[in-house]
Amino acid sequence: MATLRLGDIAPDFRQDSTQGLISFHQWAGDAWVVLFSHPADFTPVCTTELGKTAALSGEFARRGVKPIAVSVDPVASHLQWVADINDTQSTTVDFPILADADRQVATLYDMIHPNALANATVRSVFIIDPKKVIRATLTYPAGTGRNFDEILRVIDSLQLTDSHKVATPANWKDGDDVVILPSLQDPAELAQRFPKGFRAVRPYLRLTPQPNR
Ligand code: BEZ
Repeated sequence: MATLRLGDIAPDFRQDSTQGLISFHQWAGDAWVVLFSHPADFTPVCTTELGKTAALSGEFARRGVKPIAVSVDPVASHLQWVADINDTQSTTVDFPILADADRQVATLYDMIHPNALANATVRSVFIIDPKKVIRATLTYPAGTGRNFDEILRVIDSLQLTDSHKVATPANWKDGDDVVILPSLQDPAELAQRFPKGFRAVRPYLRLTPQPNR
């Protein structure tokens, strides 16, 4: 199995879930997708992660993003656990959790890292665009819960940089200044694309207010 890289097409699959059988590409439709794995049901960090994802449901929807979780436990276990997540995290889990007992998805996406965690998925994240292209990945160990605000921040950057000739600097968050792509040098185009102007710290480091604000 080849490693999945940025720019690759996210592999399609059919797998059971808490919302029934899912044909992944068909389920994704025209949305962005966050496909994320966790090690096991009824574990503390995973419980907080799925609760946080549910709590951020409106933030994902506002960006046109569908979250979908995966672990190697079966549907019956997932359904019992969802009741626990809703109870303990005061949320409503409204996204599917894939029941990957046969490890089909975990294998396709290389989510099992046996030298770190035997027989279970690590904390992988795949951010996939509406053309099914893998645009960003994150991999965390079992003991470190992910920052879902960071996942939203990466999506904000991807969606912004897809539509404007900019990139987002370190620790950028939505609304902060962005950098102009160094390839853009034509003065007329610079004036047209960035009517609020820009500040050239160096010829290659030019900061401008976020253009879609
Ligand atoms: C957890 O979700 O709390 C967890 C799962 C596997 C190993 C360590 C922690």
